[in-house]
Amino acid sequence: MKLQTVDVLAAGDALEITWSDGSRARFHALWLRDNALDAETRSTVNGQRLITLLDISPDASVAEASISPAGDLNVVIAPEMKALDFAGDWLKRHAYDQMQTREAGSLDPAMTTWGSDLQDQVPTGTWDHISQSPAALRDWLAGVREYGLAVLHGVPIRSGALCDVAELFGFVRETNYGRWFEVRSEVNPENLAYTNLGLQAHTDNPYRDPVPTLQLLGCLENTVEGGESIVVDGFNVARRLKSEDPGAFDLLGKYSATFEYAGAEGVRLRADKQIIGLAPDGELKSISFNNRSAAPITSVPYDDMAAYYAACRKFAELVEDKSMQVSFKLEPGELFIVDNTRVMHARQEFSGSGQRWLQGCYADMDALLSTLSILEDSQNIGDVA
Ligand code: FE2
Repeated sequence: MKLQTVDVLAAGDALEITWSDGSRARFHALWLRDNALDAETRSTVNGQRLITLLDISPDASVAEASISPAGDLNVVIAPEMKALDFAGDWLKRHAYDQMQTREAGSLDPAMTTWGSDLQDQVPTGTWDHISQSPAALRDWLAGVREYGLAVLHGVPIRSGALCDVAELFGFVRETNYGRWFEVRSEVNPENLAYTNLGLQAHTDNPYRDPVPTLQLLGCLENTVEGGESIVVDGFNVARRLKSEDPGAFDLLGKYSATFEYAGAEGVRLRADKQIIGLAPDGELKSISFNNRSAAPITSVPYDDMAAYYAACRKFAELVEDKSMQVSFKLEPGELFIVDNTRVMHARQEFSGSGQRWLQGCYADMDALLSTLSILEDSQNIGDVA
């Protein structure tokens, strides 16, 4: 979008521009100098910054400013008298002159919260499709970004095949459970997941720091009665808690719970996490909820402990509310992926009359979003069914 006007403000400390659609924004001279796009400031090879803030005068000011015939901003920054050009589109994408209206519990605009209404609309793909078609992979990954959940059908029924799914967009996160782990009934299991017990909805491995941000769970065999998988959008739970009990929401965002795992020889993992993790501006960033690995809570002051317990109970009751849940029974060749910092998963109890064999692995959201960003920027990737 082309620029129309520029006015120098505050004796050169800043300037104000207007775009052709009438929108306007202010930019500081120091900000413009810091974000110069010239070859002395940014590498033309990899885009990385070549200078530090200490290379820039703290007294940067606008000496001259004009709009070029093409609609770009031409500005000269004193005292270097450095001439810089900024395209209108670039300035639009990086504008910061807006009211800070976010409140605690706000949501990334790329996300959509859900409850049982998503039951028949879970983002779903097939292995053949997403492994051969960049467009299909893009759409499947976009579902993970928006809903924190996607299902995949037609995965080869082969041990470790779920790692091939992770490697379509990123890397497997290996842990003490291995490159992938088996979820089947065991005698003397090192984790309750390896039994036929029901498991309360949870995020995985909150005792790690950093926590794995994606979990994949694939099915190779499932002939038992029960054992359905349930998924719950933790951000939906958090926002409902905020509307129904704001004090409880505040407590779960204010204090850390402690999580630990020491169920296998040579492993003693421990981390503190808020059940509702918030960014400094209040945006929802993470959910950490896992009864099996909950350690004694010691970071909540005595005077708030009773209310904190009540808040945890309220959160847990919302998680159990059927209107918050999507459920499905994984069949052989089916897999689901969850944003492990947002979506909780549960398992219903199952009987021992058949076999239930699932495999799980971890991966990370940064690689998924990187791949998705590249696929979304690719032109004409087509849909090679
Ligand atoms: Fe789990």
